[in-house]
Amino acid sequence: MRNTIIAGNWKMNKTPQEAREFIKELKPMVSSALCKVICCVPFLDIPAALEEASNSNIIIAAQNCHYEKKGAFTGEISAPMLKSINVDFVILGHSERRTYFGENDETINFRLISAIEENLNVILCVGETLAQREQDITEETIAIQLKSALKNINIDNIKQVVIAYEPVWAIGTGKTATAEQAEQVCAFIRKIISDLYNESIAKEMSVLYGGSMNATNAVELLRMPNINGGLIGGASLRAEEFSKIVNFASAECTVNGG
Ligand code: PGA
Repeated sequence: MRNTIIAGNWKMNKTPQEAREFIKELKPMVSSALCKVICCVPFLDIPAALEEASNSNIIIAAQNCHYEKKGAFTGEISAPMLKSINVDFVILGHSERRTYFGENDETINFRLISAIEENLNVILCVGETLAQREQDITEETIAIQLKSALKNINIDNIKQVVIAYEPVWAIGTGKTATAEQAEQVCAFIRKIISDLYNESIAKEMSVLYGGSMNATNAVELLRMPNINGGLIGGASLRAEEFSKIVNFASAECTVNGG
């Protein structure tokens, strides 16, 4: 059964103390959620967030990891380091990593392999730029990103991967994809997964939408059959708004049974 997932991507926001206060506030608001609730926090916040989230249904995740296990990579954090403090989820391939930090399909694939080897679950981000959408190469772009990122990931390990469709033009811009646009690409992602693996893997896979999702537009997006949750930036920084999205997703779980 595919999981419905609401994941907050805090990006470079909140100190460890603020993280602690946020999780404390969020806990009771989402305690009866039927979907998975994930907060992807800055590396420095992970221990405080983990401690505050213990005995709750909130999963604390990282926003990236390096592809080597250790070595001379100043400023990086490895998958075994995350695993050693009981982190189970990590975002990889976020468009901000691709745009500002030179990550590309090949290095994202290496990072994904390293994360899988450590038994981490991965939220793999893909998405087209505005120029790519205007050139009508959205599907081609997504297909290339997926095939490259999933190179050498076998049928057993793909179960550790969740895909987040995040059109770059919708991230942090307040411009959400329409529910139909998002649904169309999420359905296409499922088709690619079916081609790369098989239909049952594709059916089981959770495909999330991300890009200016908020408490106002979430209902419409989460109602789409191929959208199984959201990766939420700005709107995940306020507990009340984030919990509203979690509760919408929970309501969809009761409708769809997953
Ligand atoms: P946003 O960010 O919701 O602020 O657009 C989403 C993301 O980058 O994951």
